[in-house]
Amino acid sequence: MHICRTKAAIRATVRDWRITGAPVVLVPTMGFLHDGHLSLMRIARERAGKDGRVVATIFVNPTQFGPGEDLDSYPRDEARDFDLLRGTGVDAVFAPDAHEIYDPQAQTIVETTELARMLIGKLRPGHFRGVATIVTKLFNIIRPDAAVFGEKDFQQLAVIRTMVRDLDMDIDIIGAPILREHDGLAMSSRNVRLGAEDRTAAPILARALNEAETMAPTGITASRLRSHVRATLEREPRAQVQSVDIRDAASLDSISGPLTRPAVILLAVKFGTVFLIDNRVVHPTKETT
Ligand code: PAJ
Repeated sequence: MHICRTKAAIRATVRDWRITGAPVVLVPTMGFLHDGHLSLMRIARERAGKDGRVVATIFVNPTQFGPGEDLDSYPRDEARDFDLLRGTGVDAVFAPDAHEIYDPQAQTIVETTELARMLIGKLRPGHFRGVATIVTKLFNIIRPDAAVFGEKDFQQLAVIRTMVRDLDMDIDIIGAPILREHDGLAMSSRNVRLGAEDRTAAPILARALNEAETMAPTGITASRLRSHVRATLEREPRAQVQSVDIRDAASLDSISGPLTRPAVILLAVKFGTVFLIDNRVVHPTKETT
């Protein structure tokens, strides 16, 4: 596995592969990898095929953190991350530092205007501008044929798909399902920062989503479903509910009446200083599989 610290090094590595015509599949991360990240690497490996190459990036992107957010305390363990990546057949990892990525004179940003300002964008102003800008830069540095992103960050995936469509980026975006701990808590690098009592309380997000999934096919309205989910979360005294939203799963448009199409329930909850998100796509009729 190649470990590249500079744009020049990763560009040279990928250029050599591209000569053979092999597809290059990218998985961007901020490191402190868990099984959720590793499931993305496996999906990338499969998409790349036996001749293709997988590139992972590890970069805690400062521009997507707001003032007072957890940039400094964001967990990091690069040596362990490299070992885990070797075990999943990643061909190269790009792990630059911030000076390598951001020119102090930089003036250009990428923003999906409306999508970046709603939902989590309201709670974290500027966050999706930081995400869209770094992902564009990574796309330009690595020039992958495809890139894998988790559905855990539902709005982020929507931002990336919108940006790729709007800016004619010739990159296939692959969404990957949410991996969970045994008690339902969605895996996240931030989970290690939960104290013992908060860790015990945190699976309330998954339980609230499970309940909502069961209630969705009963003809309930989106507003009532939303109130029910919020009430479930609020019964947990350690949970500081930041937002509960139900949106059309395809467009992220607001909905309030009876569900007629798949809807996504989006949760943002703080435990102490730790910000957790989760989501579930629910269906108005029972899925027949
Ligand atoms: P990070 O939070 O490290 O996540 C990297 C990728 O892993 C994202 O696509 C995210 O959706 C996915 N992921 C995280 N937890 C997951 C889980 N439990 N199951 C499945 N996939 C999961 O998201 C970012 O980094 C950054 O915003 C980034 C896109 C790298 C830009 O800086």
